[in-house]
Amino acid sequence: MKVFRKSGIILAATLMLLMSAACGSGSTAGNPGGDAGGNAQQPVASNTGSESAADKDQSSDQKITLGFSQVGAESGWRTANTKSIQDSAKEAGIELKFSDAQQKQENQIKAIRNFIQQKVDVIAFSPVVESGWDTVLKEAKDAGIPVILTDRAVDSKDTSLYETFIGSDFVEEGRRAGKWLVEQYKDNEEEITIVELQGTTGSAPAIDRQKGFAEEIAFDPKLKIIASQTGDFTRAKGKEVMQAFLKAHKKIDVLYAHNDDMGLGAIQAIEAAGLKPGEDIIIITVDGVKDGFVAASEGKINFIVECNPLLGPQLMDAVRDVVNGRDVAKRIVTVEGVFTSEDAKRELPNRQY
Ligand code: AHR
Repeated sequence: MKVFRKSGIILAATLMLLMSAACGSGSTAGNPGGDAGGNAQQPVASNTGSESAADKDQSSDQKITLGFSQVGAESGWRTANTKSIQDSAKEAGIELKFSDAQQKQENQIKAIRNFIQQKVDVIAFSPVVESGWDTVLKEAKDAGIPVILTDRAVDSKDTSLYETFIGSDFVEEGRRAGKWLVEQYKDNEEEITIVELQGTTGSAPAIDRQKGFAEEIAFDPKLKIIASQTGDFTRAKGKEVMQAFLKAHKKIDVLYAHNDDMGLGAIQAIEAAGLKPGEDIIIITVDGVKDGFVAASEGKINFIVECNPLLGPQLMDAVRDVVNGRDVAKRIVTVEGVFTSEDAKRELPNRQY
């Protein structure tokens, strides 16, 4: 970072000279690090694909080192997310120190402390759970290393502990799932029983997807969640928990799974029980990975709420902006869609992950 700070002084002096030379032209000289008009839906780093912004970075010829602590490899979504981060770092010429926490918070804390010791320029991580980060985030702050959150949020009250949070609006994802279900059953009279496969306990997507879904189905009292349990975002656990649901409940009308992988595991359990997924049990999942799309195009999943894992390019832009002292919006929301089985059939050939 020392190099960058020195460079920053030279850059500031150069900019002042350039600005005074440009004075009188009436130009506001476009802010490459602006927050795209304050629109949180936009990637904040407006230097995407712009050579001139990178050219202006004093540090562009000095290698930035990014320490990244990943949650694990629990799902297809996570695999796509890891690849996106690794590919984008390579493309951006950023040196990536990558660490896989295997779904354990203590491993992530250890990795972050290692990054601090190695004096990386920026630390980014996708927190496995929401709570318990304040101490290690303070350690990074005291060491002068900026932190970027990707994919999942933390519940720290002190938001100065991180620069920005790049990722989906999980509550909105839950709402989208709930809204679709309410619409499907709007003309029905009898009670509709729902089982829920939750993500990792204490994780932001599990908490928020449950909340958003519950909010929406509350508008229709005949929609009832009769069982809700974690499947830890994995296929194996999704299958196991669905088997238990099927044993315990005679009538299950709907399955809401917090990700595709758990939904795909549950489909195996449903088929093994002699039932037809997508017909005997309506299935809603979140993510939209290729395997989920295949199941949806076969009619086994009825509705997928998209959660985009391709966060790498936005992360690298934010890393550059932070290192170069440009403003970064505190929250960068990923833009996402929803897909019915019909949409999935059409979209499948274009799916990248
Ligand atoms: O945090 C994003 C979630 O984590 C994805 O929806 C899930 O598949 C992953 O494991």
